[in-house]
Formats: sequence, structure tokens, C-alpha cells
Amino acid sequence: MQGTWEVAAQKPPQPSTKEPAARLSHVVAALSQALDLSTGQPIGHSVRACLIGMRIAEEIGAPEQIRNDLFYALLLKDCGCSSNASKTFHALQSDDIKAKGNVKTTDWTSTNLGSIRYALAHVATGKPLLQRTRAILQLAVKQKTHAKEVTQLRCERGATLARLMGLSENTATGVRNLDEHWDGSGLPEGFIRNEIPLLSRVMLLAQTLEVFFSAQGQGAAMDVSTRRKGKWFDPDLVKAVNSLHRRNALWADISSVTAMENCLATEPHQRVMNKDDSSLDRICNAFSQIVDAKSPFTYNHSLGVANAAVATARTLGLSRERVLFIRHAALLHDLGKLSVPNTILEKNGKLDNAEWQIMRQHPYYTHKVLSGIPGFEGLCEVAASHHEKLDGSGYFRGLDASRLSVESRILAVADVFDALASARPYRDALPRERVFEILWKDAPHALDANCVKALEESGTESNQSFINLENLNQQLSSFSFY
Ligand SMILES: [Fe+2]
Ligand SMILES: [Fe+2]
Repeated sequence: MQGTWEVAAQKPPQPSTKEPAARLSHVVAALSQALDLSTGQPIGHSVRACLIGMRIAEEIGAPEQIRNDLFYALLLKDCGCSSNASKTFHALQSDDIKAKGNVKTTDWTSTNLGSIRYALAHVATGKPLLQRTRAILQLAVKQKTHAKEVTQLRCERGATLARLMGLSENTATGVRNLDEHWDGSGLPEGFIRNEIPLLSRVMLLAQTLEVFFSAQGQGAAMDVSTRRKGKWFDPDLVKAVNSLHRRNALWADISSVTAMENCLATEPHQRVMNKDDSSLDRICNAFSQIVDAKSPFTYNHSLGVANAAVATARTLGLSRERVLFIRHAALLHDLGKLSVPNTILEKNGKLDNAEWQIMRQHPYYTHKVLSGIPGFEGLCEVAASHHEKLDGSGYFRGLDASRLSVESRILAVADVFDALASARPYRDALPRERVFEILWKDAPHALDANCVKALEESGTESNQSFINLENLNQQLSSFSFY
């Protein structure tokens, strides 16, 4: 067997695996951009909604602890969204991301011109007329139950994920009740007025203002806030919005390049974490679950890749620091998949050229999201290189061996391993022996042979349960390489 580190001619580059102290808010704000992708909003939507919401909270004199909980709830309001993507795709029989993008500007609480237009634009688009008509009628009959089901799924999952990230119960409850309306017309509980947590009331208003502002400008945003006052929105909060607007304090710098910076400045308690802080691990874990929830075919994929990558890194004798680094890169590697509609992810057949192009963009989006975090440049590079090949035939940058670090090579092998060992819409999961037969066909020219060998020797199975940080730390501390 020829080791591909030799094929790489010189020593492979080594990324900085030091995940430095970083502000929790900066990591969460950067990752919120991945949530924007999954909801069909322009990147930066959640950050701008956060800035608007925090300005409203300040205007009403909300205490510091409430503003702190609100800050994270605003950034993570859509973290449950990927969990209903598959259900939405099957119900509408069309692009879930486009449908979600437009639902935020539609009043779905009653049948009106807007909701009919929405159905015509998003249900079974491109299908024969008869199939389309049947799908629209079916959806019309089940609309109420369907809307409640998908909202409930999203809200419950969102709250669970916020808790998993170690955020406060107020933040989780805020995320859970995002879609409740002041007049009781919201979902899933139909809570009314003050039954709805203050955080959720601010979040719904801030989210709606941002969506209308980005799509149609300030006038449209102020108009919808007035129109839905007392219906969707708490009248006192709308009063605060009007007051901010009159003083030109609501929209200042909202769409400028400093929006992220301005948003981060509104966090009352600035929490710092470092590489040993388990909160980083919890956040990576939660975001990997957000990505994996997008489709039943990627269920547990990121967790499986992380297990395989960690096992490979340990077998190769990498240091504790590098093992943890690769675990985090593996958990976040497919963040960009949140930009791919389920019409593609769940297609039962070969992708056509246009669909394949969209699919190939996902590591680019992983890069785009992670590159915004100061100090995470090394992690960004490794995570976004998981489809690159040593011979330069991979994507999205076509990097070759001279540009691919050991960590990138480990991740590339772990990714193919887990993909082959899991079921896809067009084939069943492959048995372990067949998986390694295929991996060895790609090594050493495309995949690193040392990494394939190490993964094989580690005995990792694709369906083993995810190793939590505590257990991993115990395993690593007894590991003789350190
Ligand atoms: Fe990928
Ligand atoms: Fe992957």
C-alpha cells in the first residue's frame, strides 16, 4: 500500500488546530447564517432580526437578564426549522426552501388572496395540471392540521436544541412560542396576549419587520407592523417600534457591513468560551443535529462522520487537541447542506446537471458561514474541504494534495465512509466490507491511504452511537499518545 502523504510530495499543510477563546455570541451569530439558508432568507436575516429585536427590548426598558435571553432566542429562532423540511417537501411536493422563504411574508391565518397566491406558487410546481390540482385540494383540506403539525415540530425541536446548546430555559421557551399571535390566531397552542412570553412577542415582530424590510423596504415593514398590530403583534411593542422609527433609531446600519458587529454589541453579558469549554462542543453537536434533521437520509450523518473522523485521528496518533478540533470540524462539515432543497436531497434517482450544481455548492456555504468567526479559520478550511480529493478532482475549490491537511484528508475519508454505510433514496446502506472495497478503489490517488487504513483498523461502525464529550475526554486522557 502506498501512503498518499508521500503522493503529496511534501508535508501536507497543517491548519491551526487551536480553537482560541471566542465569544459565544460570535459563534452563534455566525452559525445563525446557516439557519437563514434553511428558511430561504438572505444570509444575515437572523442577525438583522436580532439587532431589531434588541433595539425594541431596549426601548421598552427590558431588564438585562431578559435581553440576554432574548439575544440568543433571536439568533436561534429558526433552529427547529430543518426538522420539518422533509414533511414540508412531501406535503407541498416542491422546493421546501422557496416555500419557507415566502411564507414569512404571507398571512396564513386565513384564506385570502395572499394565501391562494402562495398555494399556486408553491404547491406541486412543475407537475402535470391534474396532479397539481389534486395536491392543492388535498392541502386545502388538511391545511390546518398540516400547519399545526409542522409548526409544532419546529417549535418543540427548536426549544430542545436551545437547551442542548446550554442556553437558558427562557431562551428555549422564547424559541418554542415564536409563532403565537397576540389575538390567539397563532400556532401551535393558540396562546393569547400575555400568555405568550415577552421574548416570543418581540421575536415575531422583529422577524417580520426584517423580512419585509429586506424584501420590500422600510415602508413595507412599518406598514405590516401597523396592519398586524393587535392581531399578530403586541400593541405596546408596535408603539415602541413607531417611536424608534420616528427617531431614526430602528433601521440605522441595519443592512450595512457592520450589522454583525452592531448586533454583537447588543449582547448584555459577553460570554467567552475556549477550546476546553464544553459549550463549543454542545453548539457543534446541536448544529450537526440541525443539519442531519433536514432529511431522513442524512439522519445522524454528521454524528457518524464525527465518530469515524475521531477514530481515524486517534488511530493515527494525533494529539488530544487535534482530535477535538477534527470532531468539531466533522460536526459542522455539512452546514451548507441547509441550502439544498429536499427535492434534491430526497430525489429518488440521479441528479440532473442543475441539481448537481446546487449540491456541489454546499461546502462553499459551509465555508461562507464559518469564515465569519475570528480564530476559526483553520476549522473553516478543514470543514469546507471535505469533498476535495488529493488528485484535485473534488469540489468546491478543486484543491490538490499540496493544499489538503491531514485533518482535511481524515474528514474526506470519514465522510465517504458514512455516506456509503448509510441508506440513500436510490440504494440501501452498504455492508462494511463493500464500503472499504470502494474506499480502497479511491486510495491513494483521491483519498489518503493512511487515513483509510486507520479508519479500517479502528473498527468503527457507521451505526454506533455518538460518543459524548465526557466519554471522549475519558478515552483521550487514557490514550497513550499524549
Ligand atoms: Fe458534504
Ligand atoms: Fe457529509
